[in-house]
Amino acid sequence: MQPTPAGFTAKPNTRKHFSHRNKTIVLSAEEKGEFRRQLLFLNSPQSLEAVSGSIINQELEEAAPFLPSGCVNLLIMDPPYNLNKTYNKSSFRRMSLHDYEMTLEKWLTSLIHTLAPDATVYICGDWQSSPAVYNVASRHLKIRNRITWEREKGRGAKNNWKNCSEDIWFCTLSGNHTFHADRVKLTRKVIAPYRDTSGFPRDWVESGAGKIRLTYPSNLWSDISIPFWSMAENTEHPTQKPEKLIAKLILASSNENDVVFDPFLGSGTTAVVSAKLQRRFFGIEKERDYCCVALKRLELAKKNPTIQGYGKGVFWERNTLPPSGNNASTFSTLPLVAEKK
Ligand SMILES: C[S@@+](CC[C@H](N)C(=O)[O-])C[C@H]1O[C@@H](n2cnc3c(N)ncnc32)[C@H](O)[C@@H]1O
Repeated sequence: MQPTPAGFTAKPNTRKHFSHRNKTIVLSAEEKGEFRRQLLFLNSPQSLEAVSGSIINQELEEAAPFLPSGCVNLLIMDPPYNLNKTYNKSSFRRMSLHDYEMTLEKWLTSLIHTLAPDATVYICGDWQSSPAVYNVASRHLKIRNRITWEREKGRGAKNNWKNCSEDIWFCTLSGNHTFHADRVKLTRKVIAPYRDTSGFPRDWVESGAGKIRLTYPSNLWSDISIPFWSMAENTEHPTQKPEKLIAKLILASSNENDVVFDPFLGSGTTAVVSAKLQRRFFGIEKERDYCCVALKRLELAKKNPTIQGYGKGVFWERNTLPPSGNNASTFSTLPLVAEKK
């Protein structure tokens, strides 16, 4: 793993792993040629129908004025953080916090016209970028919360605390937004499995994954794994977000058939999860190779629509799996048990 200037560690070069268990998604020359032809480039105003289900291969600054207005129910922004980072053929250079704030300001304001009146906006950042995210979001949106998630992967820095957290700012355009806490419940292992006087489990069930109960999600997430080479969703993108993380945002803050938009699409995680969860989507990404990877992931999603860490309608603790086969029927009673409380 390569250390970066800010103490982060980059993903290993997965090309060096030849294990048969390496599931990293890579593109052949033929696939690149084929997927390239499916990408959009905007130079005139577009309708939602024209961009829906598509990937726009362009700089956000150039494409934004041509995007359809008033249609996006959920905007997920995962811009380059204020760090030195190489994205395929281009690089983002760390700048002063003020300049980063001005860059974010330009990006967000160019997208406000795309939002539907009930829109939710999530903006990702790390501890260094977050002050700028807060300032920009508070000027244009209502900030509702800040999610902090544990980014478990990474190497310790000798002279500092290991950098293991990232933020996602939860904002809305108005007070009229979608939020479904009951669609993003999380399993927890039961430490003290109490029973009632009749001997029945109190608020827990015996599932194929042990004794578990369900909890409502907080703004502190410690159940997320960063994609790595043995995970089916892994790509060579250096800052790929996990499908499980994006699934939480989409399930909580949109409904089926809603429109989800990601202007920094990268390897396509938001598009893929939207498709798996029956949302409409479109995205922008300036690096053509990443756009092609995203299209390949969308193809693969048609054959395998599962989301690692999400099953039976709930999110599973890190490194646990939803029960399958006969155990599944036992588990299906769990939401009812948990709801009684
Ligand atoms: C943090 S990454 C997003 C990763 C993505 N969420 C994923 O799961 O793969 C930011 C992405 O924005 C792209 N990008 C940077 N500046 C851009 C711009 N001005 N317009 C469009 N895309 C840009 C980069 O190439 C990079 O892939």
